[in-house]
Amino acid sequence: MITLQNVSKKMGARTLFDGIQVTFNAGNRYGLTGPNGAGKSTLLKIIMGLEEATHGTVNLPNKVGYLKQNIEDFHNERLIDVVIMGNPRLWKTFAERELLYEKEMTDSIGIRLGELEEIIADEDGYTAESDAEVLLSGIGIPEELFYEPMHKIPTDRQFRVMLCQALFGNPPALILDEPTNHLDLESIGWLEDFLHGYNGVLIVVSHDRHFLNAVTTHIADIDYETLIIYPGNYDQMLITKTAARERTEEENKSKEKKAAQLREFVAKFGAGTRASQVQSRIREIERLQPQDLKKSNIQRPYIRFYPPEKTAGQVIFKVENLAKTYHTHPVFEKLNFEVQRGDKIAVLGNNGKGKTTLLKLLAGAIAQDTGKIEVGHQVQIGYFPQNHAEFIDKKSSQEAFEWLKAQREGIYDQEIRSILGKMLFGGDDAFKPIAHLSGGETARLLVGRLMLCNFNTLILDEPNNHLDLEAVSALAWALEDFKGTVILASHDRDLIQRAANKLIVFEEKGVRFFDGKLDEYLSTYKK
Ligand SMILES: Nc1ncnc2c1ncn2[C@@H]1O[C@H](COP(=O)(O)OP(=O)(O)OP(=O)(O)O)[C@@H](O)[C@H]1O
Ligand SMILES: [Mg+2]
Repeated sequence: MITLQNVSKKMGARTLFDGIQVTFNAGNRYGLTGPNGAGKSTLLKIIMGLEEATHGTVNLPNKVGYLKQNIEDFHNERLIDVVIMGNPRLWKTFAERELLYEKEMTDSIGIRLGELEEIIADEDGYTAESDAEVLLSGIGIPEELFYEPMHKIPTDRQFRVMLCQALFGNPPALILDEPTNHLDLESIGWLEDFLHGYNGVLIVVSHDRHFLNAVTTHIADIDYETLIIYPGNYDQMLITKTAARERTEEENKSKEKKAAQLREFVAKFGAGTRASQVQSRIREIERLQPQDLKKSNIQRPYIRFYPPEKTAGQVIFKVENLAKTYHTHPVFEKLNFEVQRGDKIAVLGNNGKGKTTLLKLLAGAIAQDTGKIEVGHQVQIGYFPQNHAEFIDKKSSQEAFEWLKAQREGIYDQEIRSILGKMLFGGDDAFKPIAHLSGGETARLLVGRLMLCNFNTLILDEPNNHLDLEAVSALAWALEDFKGTVILASHDRDLIQRAANKLIVFEEKGVRFFDGKLDEYLSTYKK
């Protein structure tokens, strides 16, 4: 059970939430929802004691699994160890035992070793390695990597190891912040099954509607400056939330109408002889105060990629015999294809198949081993990397406005403000330090750069990660409408269906090129 008592958080002048009073019960699976910047990650950090609330208290079980995002802190650790670190008490005990073994044996060391063995038994330490291995293989990490250091494996796999860390030791409470961001459909399926079998209290943040509907028994929604728990899954929450809002609005309207009638009576007879009637009506008017309705924080960015300044040649990329190998493992061999101007291509396939590698090669971010990529006449590439940190240094002291302005020379401040406004950085938010931006806000700023620079070719690697539903839908619309060329990697079916008219699919047997939309591909695939 996790209990929040009167928890409030202010960020500068803005109230994220005020007076949250809730209990999260074991056996329930709560989806924590709300638009980008609503304060979901902040609330989780408050629950974990990593950030202070403005006021209020939190009660937690003694062990909580928490999905961390800081993969770089585990750079040199072996995968198996990273998972076992999910139980800090056990991990510390192992470390102390290791140290004591290196010393010369004395009575006191012997006694201490005995105590440590007890803790290890208590924490299921004797099966720790095999438990960790089960988790790693469940999430699709090949066995030969278990004892390799983190930096030897691709980023998306490192995130999966972090997920295993959170799940390790079956903690009574589990807190996951956007666990599906770096997972393909197969691993999302694995996670859904795992969570169904989990009987502690789960709080999971996600912008993935399908995942939330499949996993949650309740939705905890941050809006109207507070948190409200709705029973049911995400789609049910939307219905209940809208209905409740409409009901309150209706009630307010009828209260206002009644109050207006009473005020009329008071105005007419206030100075006259019907003093007692007037007094009772004044009291009633006070009782009829409409319920104070806080504004919803759901907003939709306006994404539009303007017609390119320069038209590219007819052929954007000509790829011949392209091959790339990582650590003796070939990602792909002998790829041949052409990208024509105006193509909207989605690159599909499970993680680890080479989508990001292909996009990086096309964007010129890395070099191929063999083969050729010919870039067409006047092609200007706008690249959106899977890992935002490649473009936005969250440790810098820059502000959003400054960062965007540096992306293109000779641009008026007014234009920067206009794009920031469309990306929902209105007013003072334009000057937010980028170090403070939430995941979705960072993604929006990267989209703003693509809007600013009028590229004619967009290469987007999972741009929907971190973005809320409103923003993904705005992005799909913008890509459909764009007059240039698009190459997009994503696991979001709705986005691919709308944005792409050609597919490059990394199938089990090899790479397949498909001329058509996703639903057409899926229907031929099933036959
Ligand atoms: N130190 C800070 N000072 C001012 N504002 C901050 C600070 N840190 C974060 N914020 C702001 O607080 C808000 C909440 O951030 P948080 O990361 O909790 O959002 P979120 O709901 O997790 O969003 P996302 O869906 O994008 O992950 C954001 O608007 C963010 O810019
Ligand atoms: Mg967040």
